[in-house]
Amino acid sequence: MVEDASVAIDLSSIAFNFQQAKQAAPNSKVMAVVKANAYGHGAVPVAQCLDAADAFAVARVQEAIELRSAGINHSILLLEGSKVMAVVKANAYGHGAVPVAQCLDVADAFAVARVREAIELRSAGINHPILLLEGVFDEAGVRQAEQYDLDVALHQPYQLDLLKNTNLKVWLKLETGMHRLGLPADFLKVCARTLPPSQILGVMSHFSDADQPSLEKNANQLETLLTLAAPLGLPVSMANSAGILAGLGTSCDWIRPGIMLYGANPYLDQAVSLRPAMSLTAPVIAIKALRAGDTVGYGSRWQAEQACNVAVLAIGYADGYPRQIQTGTPVWLNGQRETILGRLSMDMMTVSVSSKALPLIGDRAQLWGKDLAIEEIARQAGSLPYVLMCGLGPRVTRTYPAPSTASHEL
Ligand SMILES: Cc1ncc(COP(=O)(O)O)c(C=O)c1O
Repeated sequence: MVEDASVAIDLSSIAFNFQQAKQAAPNSKVMAVVKANAYGHGAVPVAQCLDAADAFAVARVQEAIELRSAGINHSILLLEGSKVMAVVKANAYGHGAVPVAQCLDVADAFAVARVREAIELRSAGINHPILLLEGVFDEAGVRQAEQYDLDVALHQPYQLDLLKNTNLKVWLKLETGMHRLGLPADFLKVCARTLPPSQILGVMSHFSDADQPSLEKNANQLETLLTLAAPLGLPVSMANSAGILAGLGTSCDWIRPGIMLYGANPYLDQAVSLRPAMSLTAPVIAIKALRAGDTVGYGSRWQAEQACNVAVLAIGYADGYPRQIQTGTPVWLNGQRETILGRLSMDMMTVSVSSKALPLIGDRAQLWGKDLAIEEIARQAGSLPYVLMCGLGPRVTRTYPAPSTASHEL
């Protein structure tokens, strides 16, 4: 068979060439630039063969993530583009704030909502800048922020009084149309005059409608931020995930991705290509053979039309699975889509078994994850991926299996 065009990459040549650079500057550390897929040679194999490098440099966050996913543990420097403030509030949207922050050491900063969340990160040895998105509300909050070296948002005039004689670094948060947290334009100027320039990290705002990127309001909000921040000469930040994926606010100095880090779609009606990080699974704990006419669960909401087998899974609304889910919602069991039957209980649910081969006790069904989009479950529950991820109950344990090579093929 005639093969298509291909290239053969001799990694030993790359290692040799690296040594040439090293020998030319024996007293310097070497940061190997592996951006643009290592100039077309494959970033991961090249980085793997350059284990002797002191650090790697890439141009895009995605490139850094690819290296980390492949087990490259060197320091990675981002050469260009916006800085990234990874939003890891609400226990990293249910994924576990500390392990997520540890795997995102390539981020330039982290953002959380509560002081307690920041303290958790600091206690785990996370030394990145951490922004309290809602800032501090009293003197005690100021002292905690000082103690844990936290940055703070300033979005209300009273916070200027709290912050003006401190060393805390401040993001001025501007009102541009969300009408939740944000300073009026004239007070932005007051803050910029009152605080020393070294204390101000930048000016930020937040889209109210980025999940509908074509709405004119988004462009207006961005324009307001850029126009009012420009005379101050400060870095700016606008975009959350929906903004980033739509290219809204991505030329600002900082971006603030949240949900997209976890692989969920921030839009309701637009596909994105992200990989879900979370797979929620639960074990089969019982198999039952039903006769025609038998009913399942509280309220006898589902009735077997004919004899069939069903499986009981050890997961219920106490674990955060949405109680409002209806019969017919899918679960993924042994390579097959099955459906939830009847009402969800606190600790269990019953699902169909459509294959002849019965599941075994202990087989794990997936409730959402790589084989079953969380967006589909959220839609059926009249909810959002954000809500489902953040709503997992304390009984649900989190594990972090080592990434398989296959799951990281691009
Ligand atoms: C100020 C701010 N920036 C960024 C984010 C991240 O948003 P998303 O998860 O939609 O990317 C949030 C989350 O609500 C936020 O409050």
